[in-house]
Amino acid sequence: MSLSRLLKKAPSRGLFVFVLLLGLARAEQPPAAAVASAHPLATAAGVAILQSGGNAFDAAVTVSAVLAVVEPYGSGIGGGGFWLLHRAADGKQVLLDGREKAPLAATRDMYLDADGEPVEGLSLNGPLAAGIPGEPAALVHLSENYGRLPLSVTLAPAIKLAREGFLVDETYRRMAGFRLDVLREHEAAARQFLVENEIPEFGYMLKQPDLADTLEAIVRDGFDGFYRGEIARRLVEGTRAAGGIWTEEDLAAYRVLEREPLVGRYAGYRVVSAPPPSSGGVILIEMLNMLQQLQLPNYDSANQVHLMAEVMRRAYQDRATYLGDTDFVSVPVQQLIDPGYATQRIRDIDIHKAGQSKPIGETRGKGADTTHFSILDAEGNRVAATLSVNYPFGACFVPPRTGVLLNNEMDDFSIKPGTPNAYGLVGNEANAIAPGKRMLSSMTPTFLERQDQVAILGTPGGSRIISMLMIGVLQAAGGAPVEQWVGRARFHHQYLPDVIQFEPGALSEETRDVLKRKGHKLKELDDVYGNMQAVTWDRRTGTVMAASDPRGIGTAHVWTMLTAE
Ligand code: DON
Repeated sequence: MSLSRLLKKAPSRGLFVFVLLLGLARAEQPPAAAVASAHPLATAAGVAILQSGGNAFDAAVTVSAVLAVVEPYGSGIGGGGFWLLHRAADGKQVLLDGREKAPLAATRDMYLDADGEPVEGLSLNGPLAAGIPGEPAALVHLSENYGRLPLSVTLAPAIKLAREGFLVDETYRRMAGFRLDVLREHEAAARQFLVENEIPEFGYMLKQPDLADTLEAIVRDGFDGFYRGEIARRLVEGTRAAGGIWTEEDLAAYRVLEREPLVGRYAGYRVVSAPPPSSGGVILIEMLNMLQQLQLPNYDSANQVHLMAEVMRRAYQDRATYLGDTDFVSVPVQQLIDPGYATQRIRDIDIHKAGQSKPIGETRGKGADTTHFSILDAEGNRVAATLSVNYPFGACFVPPRTGVLLNNEMDDFSIKPGTPNAYGLVGNEANAIAPGKRMLSSMTPTFLERQDQVAILGTPGGSRIISMLMIGVLQAAGGAPVEQWVGRARFHHQYLPDVIQFEPGALSEETRDVLKRKGHKLKELDDVYGNMQAVTWDRRTGTVMAASDPRGIGTAHVWTMLTAE
């Protein structure tokens, strides 16, 4: 079944909760705390950690780990991600880069056959598709350097849910159904995520005792609990026995990195976002620079869509051309986010006519996997985190007796120049595979900051993540309430394929006519996409608001610490 058909079956029963609280406006400290995440159990666990004295960073450890247990199709300790942090005490802003790395035995053409053609499924299924995980290292780093509670407390909710189980919901069933054939091919994965090789029933209590043991090893031994010793040996043995190439050196050598976030400006906002190896911040800021100079709000709605599509076309072309892991290749980051570059880039935009991208293969689909959460604590600390195992249930492979579902993030490399990945994205040399290199990402955890407002936002959605953030920022700049940032109908262009994709109903018939007359190709999608989680704090009115995308099953909570105690 294709990913778009899978999404067609998606029940639109997204849960949306948002609470608004008014308090005394104090510039430095919010009157309330907030958590928005893609799963109710993760939001509840994050709230509980904050209420028991943890800060936003402790809550981020808890929410990440709970999501790893209850949303195995989205993210996990066999995957990676980016945690964007703001520490209120000293204003420090940093991106924790827990992105997966290519194993040291990886080679540039490892997914190509003798004729130089990609081997179907090799970068998506089984142990060869998996990068060396970064999430366990990131959680230990986050806890040790920014949290105030021990991992024995912050990982406890995830361990409990792994050991005692959680109730299978329809999203889980849909995702497992999408990957059923591949899960069945790998015994330990089938035992962990299926029941006698079938999708578990709605309401089935799914227990993951091996995962609980591995999380306990992390509590006991920190980094070494996962990357050295018994668990590391099992991970390596398990992957190699099934044709993988991991070594113990790969695991021991993994390092989480602290990177300086990228900063741009739009409509009075300071936009703080993810630097490479994510393409997110670069492309978001480049697009916002172009839109700022085009003075988007001056146009009617059809022309706004046209201009946004042209801006996306150009920025996603730059993504394919220039972006990769800056520890390995030189990327002109500062040039790409320079407003002067945007001036050049918009020069050939014709208000009457669509531009052109060179044709190349069709997009193979989109994910409803990966995850995002946003947290604000009552001290003003913030976390925006986007985490992933890439495709639903990652590589569908679990090394025996580890409970660790491996990612298939290797597919985010450009496995052959010009060959689209699972999200239809093309790339070139800058994102070619190399030993120890991080694969290019689109994950875009972001803060917006103005004198009077702070916002924390992000979403899953593969290649569409960055355009969703762009639309979210435009909503914020237009003064829309936070539920509209996460709820607004979406459209997307990514240079290739050369088409404006849009959610059902996102573009009016009139707008579609105008766009077609200008020469745009349009594709109405089968279903909705994205799962944005956002928190805002209006410093002027002392209002904290949070919203969880109505397309998903997540929840958002806002509460005053006073009433919570
Ligand atoms: O890092 C990336 O860009 C991808 N691995 C994210 C995948 C994703 O968001 C799938 N979601 N629906």
